[in-house]
Amino acid sequence: MFERTPEYFPGKSDKRVRNCGLRLVSFALRPVRFLPSFFTENHRTVCNNTYRFSRRLFYCVTSEMPLQLAAMEKDVDINKVIRQHAEMEDFFTGGFAVKGKNSVPQQPEQQDNAAAAEAAGELEKIADEVHRCRKCDLGSLRTNAVPGEGNANARILFVGEAPGADEDAQGRPFVGRAGKLLDKVIAAMGLKRSDVFIANILKCRPPENRDPRADEIISCFPSLQRQIEIINPQIIVALGAPAARTLLNTNKSIGQLRGQFHEYYAGLGRAPIKLMPTYHTAYLLRNYSEENRKRVWEDMKKVLAELGLPVPEPGKK
Ligand code: URA
Repeated sequence: MFERTPEYFPGKSDKRVRNCGLRLVSFALRPVRFLPSFFTENHRTVCNNTYRFSRRLFYCVTSEMPLQLAAMEKDVDINKVIRQHAEMEDFFTGGFAVKGKNSVPQQPEQQDNAAAAEAAGELEKIADEVHRCRKCDLGSLRTNAVPGEGNANARILFVGEAPGADEDAQGRPFVGRAGKLLDKVIAAMGLKRSDVFIANILKCRPPENRDPRADEIISCFPSLQRQIEIINPQIIVALGAPAARTLLNTNKSIGQLRGQFHEYYAGLGRAPIKLMPTYHTAYLLRNYSEENRKRVWEDMKKVLAELGLPVPEPGKK
């Protein structure tokens, strides 16, 4: 219980006059909080400020009431009154406080960063699933699964066939000889490996680098489909026949498919993604003719043009 002090309890008539005066002022000020909303665009801020002001005034007027009530009426539970009073204060702040992350307006750059971080997180989840996957026999034959790597916001997604020996050993895509040549193709396009995303149709190495089997593709393809959905690239470059055929659901040869844009069906309600098939860099290494290199370069120039990116001239940095 509180201590009564004589100064705290002025004479009855003084109290009545003061309380009456303060209530009148409070009552007279009540409409003020509504006025700014009619006259200002930024009415929410002004309204809140005005409301805060009138709340303080209201608090001043009422803050002594529990004490006075307790002094006048002995039966009143002072703790209860104070609790109610505190709850009322909480009601004011709670009602007007901005709550939840969605209500804070974000700058476009912040939104981009947040979206990129979210996409990277989703890709991580897929990579974790791929590392644990045992849907086909390759899961027990691999050294490492190779989920893919790169920029979660990439405009270009390169898709190969399946990891080879080097990729299986390191758990990273295109790190062997074919990968070094792919690095050169990406650099010739004026890009860095970290600008693009690189993945494969199969996430595990088939024994002796044999061709992927249909049942393996059926088990593994959903992971790539989800990666494509998350990255949402503007262009997919399919490296070699197995990648192009799987992504386009066709039996045509890579010779028939390469050199022109096709459409990857990205699912109901989603826009199709442009897809450029080209020769696999492993094929280029085996058939390293000027003609073949020229063909791949022609295909990549079309990709750059489609993205509105400059085509670097050979020999110029
Ligand atoms: N060949 C592929 O198709 N993918 C790789 O990751 C490496 C070589």
